[in-house]
Amino acid sequence: MKRKPTRFDLQKMKENGEKVVWITSYDYPTAEFAEKAGADMILVGDSLGMCVYGYEGTVPVTMNQCIMHCEAVRRAAPNTFIVGDMPFLSYQVSVEDAVLNAGRFHKEAGVDAIKLEGGKRVCPQIEAISDGGMLVIGHIGLTPQSSGQLGGFKAQGRTAETAMALIEDAKAIEEAGAFALLVEAVPPEVMAIITQTLSIPVYSIGAGVHADGQLMICSDVLGIFQAFTPKFVKKYASLGAEIQKAFEAYADDVRSGSFPADEHTYKMVEGELPRLRESLKE
Ligand code: KIV
Repeated sequence: MKRKPTRFDLQKMKENGEKVVWITSYDYPTAEFAEKAGADMILVGDSLGMCVYGYEGTVPVTMNQCIMHCEAVRRAAPNTFIVGDMPFLSYQVSVEDAVLNAGRFHKEAGVDAIKLEGGKRVCPQIEAISDGGMLVIGHIGLTPQSSGQLGGFKAQGRTAETAMALIEDAKAIEEAGAFALLVEAVPPEVMAIITQTLSIPVYSIGAGVHADGQLMICSDVLGIFQAFTPKFVKKYASLGAEIQKAFEAYADDVRSGSFPADEHTYKMVEGELPRLRESLKE
């Protein structure tokens, strides 16, 4: 049976050039599959707002929703490093909020670390959560909670100035005490500089191969998220089409009366039906 990696294992993997496999999951069944597939880390992302609840973005997601999904994932994947994603307004307003909400993820859902979005402006929160004895992963580049400010779900760091700002943010996050960093939707050349500059592990989602590991959204990997597909997604299955086919076949069978068949029904105990009929006559 695999052992849950610690932060030191993840650090060693960077030093040994071993890639970390990181995937999102929001529920018991997919988390169980992810652990069996040997994922090193699972992110219970606030992308659950889109992938599970059908919101247009991540902004409406609440702490209680995140905690509930983290609990289910924790139960399913006891030997995988679980990261809880701090939802919008759970850390932006004050450092105190940030520590209390990071603490809730740990106390109520048993996560191994939390992730929060932003560069220099969230470094006081990163420092305070780390001082509270918890592990923090930073998240820069395309940060979905501030997609309004970014002008949409767009690639970041494509000019020298914006790339420089990301590199400065990355350094500040490491200095503030984060034990790892996630970089989303930036060009691979910029990602390579960040990965080489930082001594902590740097993971990519949509930022190319020059990273210490990769993160993907499980709904994209499985081909079940239908609203849109980012350029960086590789679908490994078309479960959406399979699910649609299965539901349509079920509906056809119900309407035609071919389901349930005899093998899907329970038998009465031998001799009980005549007795029931007799009772009905009385
Ligand atoms: O919520 C999430 O799944 C994320 C990824 C988009 C990085 O934060």
